[in-house]
Amino acid sequence: MTIFSLLTYFFLLTSAAASAAADDSIFLDCGVSGSSTTFDGRNWTGDAAATTFTLTSGTLSLPANSPVSPAPATPYHTARVSASPFTYHLPVTQGRKFLRLHFFPVNYGNFASSDALFTVTAGPYTLLKNFNASQTVEFLGIPFLVREYSINISFLNLTFTPSSALPASYAFVNAIEIISSPDIFSGGNRPQPYSVEPDRALQTMYRLNVGGQVIRPMQDSGSLFRTWEDDSPYIHGAGIGVAYAADENVTIRYPANTPEYIAPADVYATARSMGPNPSINLNYNLTWILPVDPGFYYLVRLHFCEISYSFTEMNQRVFDIFINNHAANKRFNVIRASGGIGLPVYQDFFVVIPNGSEREKLVDLWVSLHPAPRSKPEVFNAILNGLEVFKLQSYDATLAGLNPTPSRKQGNDAAMDNAIQVSGNSRRRIRLIAAFTGGGLGLLLSIILFTLFSLLQKGIARPSSMLGSSALAKGSSTPCRHFSFAELEHATNGFDEAVLIGAGGFGKVYRGTIDSGLMTVAIKRGRSLSGQGIQQFYNEIETLSKLQHHHLVSLIGYCHDSAEMILVYNFMSQGNLGEHLYGTKDPLPWRRRLQICIGAARGLHYLHTGANPPIIHRDVKTTNILLDGEWVAKVADFGLSRKGPEIGHSHVSSAVRGTMGYLDPEYVKLMRLTEKSDVYAFGVVMLEVLCGRPALDPAKAEEESLVDWVLQSQKDGAIDQVLDPYLKGKARKLCLEKFVKTAVSCVAEGRVERPAMGDVLRNLELALAFHLQECCLEDSSEAGHSF
Ligand SMILES: *[C@@H]1O[C@H](CO)[C@@H](O)[C@H](O)[C@H]1NC(C)=O
Ligand SMILES: *[C@@H]1O[C@H](CO)[C@@H](O)[C@H](O)[C@H]1NC(C)=O
Ligand SMILES: *[C@@H]1O[C@H](CO)[C@@H](O)[C@H](O)[C@H]1NC(C)=O
Ligand SMILES: *[C@@H]1O[C@H](CO)[C@@H](O)[C@H](O)[C@H]1NC(C)=O
Ligand SMILES: *[C@@H]1O[C@H](CO)[C@@H](O)[C@H](O)[C@H]1NC(C)=O
Ligand SMILES: *[C@@H]1O[C@H](CO)[C@@H](O)[C@H](O)[C@H]1NC(C)=O
Ligand SMILES: *[C@@H]1O[C@H](CO)[C@@H](O)[C@H](O)[C@H]1NC(C)=O
Repeated sequence: MTIFSLLTYFFLLTSAAASAAADDSIFLDCGVSGSSTTFDGRNWTGDAAATTFTLTSGTLSLPANSPVSPAPATPYHTARVSASPFTYHLPVTQGRKFLRLHFFPVNYGNFASSDALFTVTAGPYTLLKNFNASQTVEFLGIPFLVREYSINISFLNLTFTPSSALPASYAFVNAIEIISSPDIFSGGNRPQPYSVEPDRALQTMYRLNVGGQVIRPMQDSGSLFRTWEDDSPYIHGAGIGVAYAADENVTIRYPANTPEYIAPADVYATARSMGPNPSINLNYNLTWILPVDPGFYYLVRLHFCEISYSFTEMNQRVFDIFINNHAANKRFNVIRASGGIGLPVYQDFFVVIPNGSEREKLVDLWVSLHPAPRSKPEVFNAILNGLEVFKLQSYDATLAGLNPTPSRKQGNDAAMDNAIQVSGNSRRRIRLIAAFTGGGLGLLLSIILFTLFSLLQKGIARPSSMLGSSALAKGSSTPCRHFSFAELEHATNGFDEAVLIGAGGFGKVYRGTIDSGLMTVAIKRGRSLSGQGIQQFYNEIETLSKLQHHHLVSLIGYCHDSAEMILVYNFMSQGNLGEHLYGTKDPLPWRRRLQICIGAARGLHYLHTGANPPIIHRDVKTTNILLDGEWVAKVADFGLSRKGPEIGHSHVSSAVRGTMGYLDPEYVKLMRLTEKSDVYAFGVVMLEVLCGRPALDPAKAEEESLVDWVLQSQKDGAIDQVLDPYLKGKARKLCLEKFVKTAVSCVAEGRVERPAMGDVLRNLELALAFHLQECCLEDSSEAGHSF
């Protein structure tokens, strides 16, 4: 046999093996004997029931000791636990695959969470060493974590070994995922000068959907079940740029060298750019800071796609890419690299982060973008759509980092800024050792950056996790209860229409009782497990479980069993504000209206300034202001809410969402969301309270829009005509004037003219004081109403 034919034979063999490879998709729910349970649309097999692999005997299946917990029941409420080493022997197919390990560190039986200290190996690779899951989640401020690896192995021996350093130590795992993946690292047929060797193991450190929302496993492309996180927690400083979505008529088309499994269309269809002002852009870098373990090589992958018809030409947007202060790619031009609008392209960079002088600390990886004025682009701007960072296995086949130092755990914003500054100011000597320029069109450039950290005072804590801050309540302090579907079915008498109390975009709301009839609750049952519904469902849990305020509704728990999305709240016996303003025989007295407005304003003021990070509600309206038995106003429905930028600094941008009649005109026009959009919507609520009619009333023809009608009447000097007839003679002049003036300022066209929520609150309190004064001086007829 000639060498040539031998090579050919070998080639055929490998390609045959590759095409014959059946795909693995294994979801093991550890410590469970039931065969299959569904969580987020995926089927999880109990590891005690599965027959496709063998497991070292002598391990225990244990439930978590704290049933009231912020982690979903499947797969987190049970674990495989052992004080001696145990191994899963999993026959898997040839080729690369994602291995995901899930850990929810709480007490299991007699095993205390603080004693879990163990090493995990997968075949020849060490994935985790002396891993302390409690310390890691504490550091990241999340309840549970997922570690993701990519390995190329054909028989997987996954071994968990408790540390020998601690007599009481044990190992545990809550779930294991194994998903076959195409070759997403070696570059496929791309003319890439540097690629990941076929047997290199990697660990995913970050996977961010830049400028977009979280993409959950079921929404990922290529059936790879990856999670793409929001990038905003990692942006450095106040220059967060502008997040935006693709123009409506732009569709993402995958070229041959960027297959769809590289990243889902949602990653490319949203982006972050620098903002409209060229002189500001020239004076700052759009920067992401990503803490990583020292002593490893990293693959940094940047995803790009132009998605706006304002950028279709080659020389419109040209920018430099810096990694760790070093120019990684000069004068990068997305349109030239990708070939046109809507065409994705990605760039890989290799970076080495040497062992620092302090091995114990995480160090920062910086990715910065800056306009390249010397290439004379049409605009001074930059764009990024997605960002991934993978750690490469070191030569001793380890991927294990250190347990993050607990002294630097999640702090407040000020502490964080401080940390960034400390590390940013620490002087670093950086040396470039090698740079390879891509062949072909010159669109690919891979470099090795050699970075020497002479001094690194402090590692840096991030408010969000590395990979695996999953769906729920990060750093949640409110216990959020998990209900089974059966429990809620029982609570509502089988979702009986007789206890239906409302229906909306999300689904239906029922009244129910739990805890043997001791507690009345409102049960909101989602319509379907479709993309947007899931986003809103998680958003609501994530937002509300972290917030506790007298004027915000409180979430008691949730259920996501068997394709159901159900949220359980405190029951608000008086329904919503809208119901008491129009179409009612018994409209609210003026004083109560004022008190309700004050309560709701307090809730919103808290969201904008008291919550950390600030939150923009995005759907303020009378039907989202609920009233309890004492008529206390509670702001509800956080399904559309967004974490705000630092208030006053900038804005987030996204597809316009909200309710007609309440939409901030500037938000609609510029697609830029700030807390002033909530102020506008609240102004509309105040006008409804004043006029006793809905924001939009199609029956009223020319007076259809409440805002237009009020503003016109005010201009005509006929403000009296808009007043709810029921209030005539009951609301006092000074008080009314204050109220009208405040409401009108809230609905100002330009957001800069609108007051902040705190000012609205003060003015409302003043209006109430005027009312009480005048009311008590003049007569007490209104006191006849039960306040
Ligand atoms: C889960 O199992 C059910 C029932 O066997 C099946 O209908 C469904 O398609 C499975 N889901 C997935 C994502 O495989
Ligand atoms: C793991 O970390 C937790 C929290 O920092 C700590 O209380 C515990 O002692 C650590 N356990 C071990 C075995 O080091
Ligand atoms: C996996 O473990 C089994 C049993 O200890 C051993 O026979 C086998 O060689 C191991 N396979 C690999 C690939 O390490
Ligand atoms: C996996 O490893 C085998 C054997 O080393 C190699 O032939 C194959 O190309 C690798 N697959 C990938 C996707 O790297
Ligand atoms: C797409 O829409 C933009 C405005 O949003 C418009 O300027 C452009 O001409 C449209 N392009 C096509 C191909 O329809
Ligand atoms: C970091 O130090 C370890 C030994 O302590 C060494 O094996 C490794 O090569 C070093 N890594 C780098 C990137 O310098
Ligand atoms: C942007 O980053 C590069 C590399 O770190 C630096 O040289 C440059 O001064 C920065 N520009 C601004 C305006 O901060």
